[in-house]
Amino acid sequence: MSGIPEDLIEQVRDAADIVEIVGESVELKRTGSDYRGPCPFHGGKNRNFAVIPKKQIFYCFVCHEGGDVFTFFMKHHGMEYPTAVREVARRVGISIPDRPTGGPDPREPLFTAVSAAAEWYGRRLREADDAKPARSYLASRAISEEKHGPLGLGYAPRGNDFLDAMGKLGIENNVLLDAGLAVVRDEDESLRPRFWNRLLFPIRDLRGRIVGFGGRVLGDGEPKYLNSPESQVFRKRQLLYNLDSAKHAIRKAESVVVVEGYFDVLRLVECGIENVVAPLGTALTEEQAGLMKRYCQDVYLLYDSDTAGLKATFRAADELLRTGLRVVVATLPTGDDPDTLAASGGAAAIRSLLDDGIDVLERKLQLLERKGWFGTLSGRRRSLDRLLPTIRAASDPVTQDLYVSRTAESLGISVEAVRREIDGRNRRQPRYSASGARPDSGSAVGDPSANGERLLVRVMLHAPEYRSRIRELLPEDAELRGVEGELVTLLANSDSELSFSDLLVQVSEPARTILSGLIDQGLGEQDRDAIVEGSLMQIVSRPLEREKREIDDRIRFVPEEKKGELLRRKTELGSELRKLKAFKWKLDSSRR
Ligand code: CTP
Ligand code: MN
Repeated sequence: MSGIPEDLIEQVRDAADIVEIVGESVELKRTGSDYRGPCPFHGGKNRNFAVIPKKQIFYCFVCHEGGDVFTFFMKHHGMEYPTAVREVARRVGISIPDRPTGGPDPREPLFTAVSAAAEWYGRRLREADDAKPARSYLASRAISEEKHGPLGLGYAPRGNDFLDAMGKLGIENNVLLDAGLAVVRDEDESLRPRFWNRLLFPIRDLRGRIVGFGGRVLGDGEPKYLNSPESQVFRKRQLLYNLDSAKHAIRKAESVVVVEGYFDVLRLVECGIENVVAPLGTALTEEQAGLMKRYCQDVYLLYDSDTAGLKATFRAADELLRTGLRVVVATLPTGDDPDTLAASGGAAAIRSLLDDGIDVLERKLQLLERKGWFGTLSGRRRSLDRLLPTIRAASDPVTQDLYVSRTAESLGISVEAVRREIDGRNRRQPRYSASGARPDSGSAVGDPSANGERLLVRVMLHAPEYRSRIRELLPEDAELRGVEGELVTLLANSDSELSFSDLLVQVSEPARTILSGLIDQGLGEQDRDAIVEGSLMQIVSRPLEREKREIDDRIRFVPEEKKGELLRRKTELGSELRKLKAFKWKLDSSRR
């Protein structure tokens, strides 16, 4: 980057006191929690220049210059970035080795371009006529310039003014493209700004450098939010909105609050809850969890309470637990997001929500219990399956231990049983293998999700004439589950003369347990064709159902331009599933 290691720069930034450093050249007076003085940039006489220690930034309400301690040296003394870092380091007594490795950072032009763009967009929002709707939009959400100025919000207009302005600053087209600020138009290969009539939230990296934007549409339109595309400087998975300015507050509070959107962040900060961040429209990533872990141990998840929000909550929670963080879930009233709740109930409403937050495992238990799942055996089994990912994710051994005993207690099963489930078993793999018996598998009850397979085995055992039919009807690539699945293959490929006792000596111990159970059950008077049809349908549709669920999980997190594709696939899956349900397996005994 600047030849100076990233973490060293961060250390310098953290050690510096912006009030003291700016105070060397500007006469500052305390006003409330901020400091004010005459602006050194536009040379004003009045105290319009603010230094905000909580955020470690400065901002002039008249000329709108603003930034962090490094920016101050760059703008005030005309220094290059590395020189500014060295200057600040010298003052805080951190020594930086002379020119260590490598030359200048090849990404430097991109940083410059994005930062120039942010300044231009910011001015446009404040001054231009065509930004009036954007300004009234902010006003309608009760966000004054006092609030959004220091955050550097901007307006991207329609038309090509942006490109012209960047051209005048000497920023080359290929740099604009690489920085994700411009796109090439398909029709005539001309350049067009990426952001078009949008309100822009600048997104900063850990060091406070603007690396991209989140752009909200004004009025209706799609997509609602358009982010900068991935680039060498904008890596969504590794960035958290507001982390640069929240990190001191996070350390101090020893916790971080995670919300879904930009406006939620703004509103919480306004309520005085400054330890707040948001992912950038994607599911929370491992890298983002790692970033939080650098500053605290406890994470409060404050997501919407609808189905999608809950899914996102539990996914994020698992990622955080894997990183070894503790996770508390705060529950919003239905229909509210942190933004709307803060607007109606103020800081107190948000604070009490956070205070009422409960551990993520408790929250899962609470929801399962409310569904009434603890009342039945199968419900308890399903509950355990829902809880397992969270228990497995807890990488902190003490937390995992607590989760195991809490789960055992709530479901009324033994701690050992829960332990056995979590130990190294992946849900996708068959629980037991028909060939290699597990030492403890004598007690096997089989795979609860392999119901279709079990029914097929039962029919093929008691009505051997179905064996060859099923062999023909079962698709080559059918995804069979568990020991039961292996038994389906075995029986479907065996001669209808094969007897129970021949069968029992051929298979492994857990398969034998399942087989003898099914032999004892008999087949009764049920409609065999219907059982076989239903089971085949279940088995064949399972991968399609799964893909559909995966799309549902993912869809809210993909960029708008990819959503169409997913939705198309989902529709396709839906119609395949409908076709499957209507499919005639030609089992009719009469036709055979
Ligand atoms: N988001 C996104 N792309 C979308 C929709 C949402 O990246 N198409 C991200 C944005 O970071 C957004 C967050 O997900 O802030 C939450 O989305 P949503 O709840 O739809 O928006 P709000 O934050 O409530 O936005 P607003 O209040 O402006 O309606
Ligand atoms: Mn909102």
